Amino acid sequence: MGKHDDTHRAPVELATVRDFLRWTVSAFNAAAVSFGHGTDNAWDEARWLVLGALHLPFDSPDWVLDARLGAEERKRLNGLLARRIGERVPTAYLLGEAWFAGLRFRVTPAVLIPRSPIAELLAQGCEPWLDGREPRRILDLCCGSGCIGIAAALAWPDAEVVLADVSAEALEVARGNVERHGVGARVRVLASDLFGALAGERFDLILCNPPYVDAADMAALPAEYRHEPRLGLAAGADGLDLARRILADAPRHLDGNGLLVLEVGNSAEALERAYPGLAFVWPDLADGGHGVALIHAAELGGMSV
Ligand SMILES: C[S@@+](CC[C@H](N)C(=O)[O-])C[C@H]1O[C@@H](n2cnc3c(N)ncnc32)[C@H](O)[C@@H]1O
Repeated sequence: MGKHDDTHRAPVELATVRDFLRWTVSAFNAAAVSFGHGTDNAWDEARWLVLGALHLPFDSPDWVLDARLGAEERKRLNGLLARRIGERVPTAYLLGEAWFAGLRFRVTPAVLIPRSPIAELLAQGCEPWLDGREPRRILDLCCGSGCIGIAAALAWPDAEVVLADVSAEALEVARGNVERHGVGARVRVLASDLFGALAGERFDLILCNPPYVDAADMAALPAEYRHEPRLGLAAGADGLDLARRILADAPRHLDGNGLLVLEVGNSAEALERAYPGLAFVWPDLADGGHGVALIHAAELGGMSV
């Protein structure tokens, strides 16, 4: 189903924002679209897509929903709905933006859509694991849009932050987000194959959401996820290709009291199996998500190559 397919076009008798919202929810359900890129249900996704496309806030007053749509607005909405339902393009890519840690980020298909549960740890100041220490140097490794490192820069206003990624296209998006959030004076954006361009640099806090999807999960990904860069997801047979390199090199880049926050999602069990001697901490994540490992420099020290 392509852009010119009318299958997912809302009928002309729909007049108001509310009509479009209701129709969109029905169409999402009928087509069994997948969620998980910022929402987890048809109602929130419809609200995000319809209100977002109309440049209206999500908490718009109720009367706004009864306002009628202009012809151009209907045309634009129909076009976006056809792509969301027919082509399974995630809403964040259609609107060019996503929310993370309460902040708005620009996204393009060059970056993963922000959704890391690391946001919840940032909201808690990574306590109690930082033990009251304010991180002065923070690395967001595999930064994509830069969402994690930028949220960290805003959480710790005196910290210097490095955003690193191997993808030039992702770094361009990250640079735009650094500018958008006005943190350019403290945030450096760096092209680096993992720690490759960071020789000699140490950090108090390394935040890392690397690719960690194993081969079986990659093969079963819903169509929506196939619009995301494979470079941001795939990590070999057991999902640990990147995590292994990160754990091997992290000791050379963490300060003595440093903390590594490493997201591995569904590959958590594989990580535990691969490193039976390491005491990973797996914090409870009340906002959802799983598979974020915490590990202190002292624990990793013995692994230094
Ligand atoms: C799961 S995405 C995370 C993006 C972002 N941190 C977030 O949470 O939304 C992983 C990122 O790792 C990057 N990446 C993949 N291989 C890499 C490597 N060898 N070195 C550095 N970055 C890499 C990808 O380009 C992608 O942006």
